Amino acid sequence: MKPLTTHIKTDGSPLSLEEYERLGGYQALRKALGMSPAEITAEVKDSNLKGRGGAGFNTGMKWSFVPMDENIDTKYLICNADEMEPGTFKDRWLLEGHPHQLLEGMLIAAYAIQATEGYVFLRWAYKTAAEGIRRAIAEAELSGYLGQNILGSGFHLKMHLHTGVGRYMCGEETALLNSLEGKRATPRAKPPFPQVSGLFGKPTIVNNVETFSCIPHIISMGADWFRNLSKNPQDGGTKIYGVSGQVKRPGAWELPMGVTLRELIEEHAGGMKDGFHFRGALPGGASTDFLVEEHLDVAMDYGSVAAAGSRLGTGTVVVLDDRTCPVGFVHNLEHFFAQESCGWCTPCREGLPWTEKILKALENGEGRENDLDTLAFHTKALGPGHTFCALAPGAMEPLQSALKYFRQDFEQHIHEKRCPYGHTIH
Ligand code: NAI
Repeated sequence: MKPLTTHIKTDGSPLSLEEYERLGGYQALRKALGMSPAEITAEVKDSNLKGRGGAGFNTGMKWSFVPMDENIDTKYLICNADEMEPGTFKDRWLLEGHPHQLLEGMLIAAYAIQATEGYVFLRWAYKTAAEGIRRAIAEAELSGYLGQNILGSGFHLKMHLHTGVGRYMCGEETALLNSLEGKRATPRAKPPFPQVSGLFGKPTIVNNVETFSCIPHIISMGADWFRNLSKNPQDGGTKIYGVSGQVKRPGAWELPMGVTLRELIEEHAGGMKDGFHFRGALPGGASTDFLVEEHLDVAMDYGSVAAAGSRLGTGTVVVLDDRTCPVGFVHNLEHFFAQESCGWCTPCREGLPWTEKILKALENGEGRENDLDTLAFHTKALGPGHTFCALAPGAMEPLQSALKYFRQDFEQHIHEKRCPYGHTIH
């Protein structure tokens, strides 16, 4: 059962409104408009849908924090489509192939919180998706699904497409809000959470593309059905997983939530390429801790991956093989994070370039005995509770687990004064 992706065309081109309607598209919206906003939120909460952007917060619970006071003049609904987590390419599939499914999910969510302004905040580089979404918004407006008095219900929603500027930081929900307001994209202190004070200080919900795309199916088929699509109903639904690295068939697949890491790599990605062996994997994009061979049978759901010492994150696995230097691999990630730090708080602004510099020296055979202690210190000093947002703590996750699982490789770089894999960084 692949509710989100079954109907995506093999050439990846977007389903038109007609095609979507023929498949039952916008019937969930009709049903939702006959329900009360509270009933919709309760259904979504019961489905155990957790945020697919990476943090896994219960979606219905998030919506339930929005004040339903009728005196509030404007509320906002935002789709975070600024997919920039390294190794993550799952939302693009939905954005390019199934734009009306996303819009229908957003419409139902907007009705549930009584938002009248919606934004798709789209990654700058997703040009094809931008075209498809722009067209889908126009088609939905012409057909009465968007705009004033939607399907005669008295409910209004104006939808905007906003393309970002290619900064990772804009994916952080409060930096995204600042960016939409035309300000510098730095994170805000939380609380207050956006559900209470978000865009222009108004109640705002920010959810990910995959999260919204689940909503029409939850409303059509019910919370129980959705929950039980998963192998672990605590974390309901299906999940779009991905695998990249030296595997035979890198790609993305919609599967029941909770398939094992082994099934993903060995069955769906076809196993390691000939001549390469598995050493470890980041389970959900770059800002997660490595899992290693002993974790291959871990179920890829939020709870099980957390119990194994990492996070499901975006569910897009990045595989480390035995011919790639783990120090160089982590350096590459820290280079990205250092470049993408917004500079707002000192540990992140100063700590990430310092981390990157040490890793570069290690990789080039210029490491010193105390470097590993310094890196271990950084994993704490840049960790949770020391920064405004999750960027630096996320950046420390692959580093801290690499120091744990691949320590010998780090030490070998220092003792042999070279990269044993023959890698250098310029
Ligand atoms: P978070 O855990 O702080 O928040 C997640 C969501 O839950 C937010 O919408 C927040 O408003 C809400 N929330 C959390 N605690 C709450 C509370 N006590 N009361 C009310 N609402 C609450 O995580 P954050 O910083 O939003 O996201 C970090 C994640 O984003 C990382 O786990 C990372 O995997 C992922 N990420 C994904 C990217 C992508 O391209 N998909 C890019 C970068 C990071």
